[in-house]
Amino acid sequence: MGKLDNRVAVISGAARGQGRSHAVNLAAEGASIIALDICADLDGNTYPLSRPEDLEETARLVEKEGARAHPVIVDVRERSAVWSAIAQGVQALGRLDIVVANAGIAALGRGQTMQSWSDTIDTDLVGVFNVVQASIPHLGDGSSIIATGSLAAQLGSSTKQGPGGSAYSLAKQVVAHYVNDLSIQLAKRMIRVNAVHPTNVDTDMLHNEGMYKVFRPDKDAPTREDAEVAFPAMQAMPVPYIQPQDVSDLVVFLASDASRFITGSQLRVDAGGFVKAVPWGK
Ligand SMILES: NC(=O)c1ccc[n+]([C@@H]2O[C@H](COP(=O)([O-])OP(=O)(O)OC[C@H]3O[C@@H](n4cnc5c(N)ncnc54)[C@H](O)[C@@H]3O)[C@@H](O)[C@H]2O)c1
Repeated sequence: MGKLDNRVAVISGAARGQGRSHAVNLAAEGASIIALDICADLDGNTYPLSRPEDLEETARLVEKEGARAHPVIVDVRERSAVWSAIAQGVQALGRLDIVVANAGIAALGRGQTMQSWSDTIDTDLVGVFNVVQASIPHLGDGSSIIATGSLAAQLGSSTKQGPGGSAYSLAKQVVAHYVNDLSIQLAKRMIRVNAVHPTNVDTDMLHNEGMYKVFRPDKDAPTREDAEVAFPAMQAMPVPYIQPQDVSDLVVFLASDASRFITGSQLRVDAGGFVKAVPWGK
């Protein structure tokens, strides 16, 4: 018996990285998965996003766990398309209990434009609104909503990394505030709303030149090797980054009945990054 037998989850950004890991881990506990992803690049972003075959692979991995998968290619910036995709997913899989609003971009380094600002706000903030709002009409009492923030959201505004970096920090801070306020509105129905805030995670969002440049501003074209020596500075624990699985373990907990009285929380999976950066009482 799994912790999530007979439940259905919708996950955005499910084609790869943390979203895929959440899909597989929720499926391993018995949940069926509505897997959303754009599977195409965004003009304002500075590294490639997923491809249709990535989303197909997520669906295959979910089915390998013995669960049902309903993959949909959809851009979370597009409100009406997200509402249709989630409604169709619920029709196909019968219900909705868990929402994981995870899709995001971090357009950093060279090549940022004001389109980077727009695409980041529209994906990382409006995209979270779209996925959560489109899900609420389908959710039963006792459901769980989880939004992916970032340690960046906890560390205040970052306006020095260009329009993409600045928009990322703003979007993630507002996501944290949204989770806080929405949790009150849904509490009467025993629906939980929480945010997870990871530090560096070992995914394509971390492993690209724009992100390497944030960690190695002294290098003209920093490589992964250059960045690997700088990544540990972000955390108190001596690690360069965490794995998607580390975040999925928290997502499974928040999706399950074990967290039934946890709501409105900002939960960091950051290897001590926050306590290192922000002294107690500040
Ligand atoms: N990797 C990190 O270091 C890190 C740290 C903190 C927070 N996060 C957050 O974790 C979440 C997942 O990122 P990841 O690390 O798995 O990166 P990733 O790039 O591997 O995965 C992001 C996924 O979101 C999808 N996506 C992007 N824009 C989309 C859109 N408009 N519509 C639909 N899908 C879209 C991408 O195609 C991709 O599959 C993001 O919200 C990110 O901000 C990541």
